Amino acid sequence: MASLVRSGRGLFITLEGIEGCGKSTQARLLANRLRATGRTVTLTSEPGGTRVGRAIRSALLTPGRKVGPLAEWLLFEADRAQHVAEVIRPALEKGNVVISDRFSDSSRAYQGFGRGIGLDEVDRVDAVATGGLKSDLTIVLDLPVSEGLARRRRAGGLNRLDRERERFHQKIRDAFLVLATREPDRIRVVDGRIGRGEVSEVILRHVTAALAGR
Ligand code: TYD
Repeated sequence: MASLVRSGRGLFITLEGIEGCGKSTQARLLANRLRATGRTVTLTSEPGGTRVGRAIRSALLTPGRKVGPLAEWLLFEADRAQHVAEVIRPALEKGNVVISDRFSDSSRAYQGFGRGIGLDEVDRVDAVATGGLKSDLTIVLDLPVSEGLARRRRAGGLNRLDRERERFHQKIRDAFLVLATREPDRIRVVDGRIGRGEVSEVILRHVTAALAGR
């Protein structure tokens, strides 16, 4: 398995966190900053990083849809399997830096902890979906749930998962922090309350260290 786990020639970075934590903005800023230094960057996201993934995304996130926890989880994994095969692995093989707005740690937090499926079960199936690919570096943007949800409400258009109760989102925030303590080298927690520019600086420092370590 070990040979499958590395991300090949490129560097695989993922951004994670609760709704409204600012990771999509930070993913874009990071991509721009790395491109400015001459790196080739593939910026992508889950769910919905491929054509089939966009159909899965709509099945998953349309408000009012009835989706059980098992089907929800396996749809996220199906989306990921296609995303890895079609977008992520080919870009890493070319030597690109790949930045994904959400990846396996979202399933580990939302489905493993949030839906109670369990981390071991999620990890087992996720490893099949990804062919064993793990991120080299994951940034968790940490933010109090009330702030994240308030930001999301201001932006409008709450999706099916945004509409979960506050207690669910609290579980997810805690889950990301637990995951980070278990793998402190791969998962770095960044305080999402400091200004946007400062968050971007801290992320860039982690990424620069990861690039230097290759
Ligand atoms: P999205 O609109 O992409 O929001 P965000 O900006 O928060 O990423 O919504 C994606 C939703 O799907 C979000 O609530 C997190 C959830 N999700 C899971 O539950 N499991 C997963 O594996 C992934 C990738 C996302």
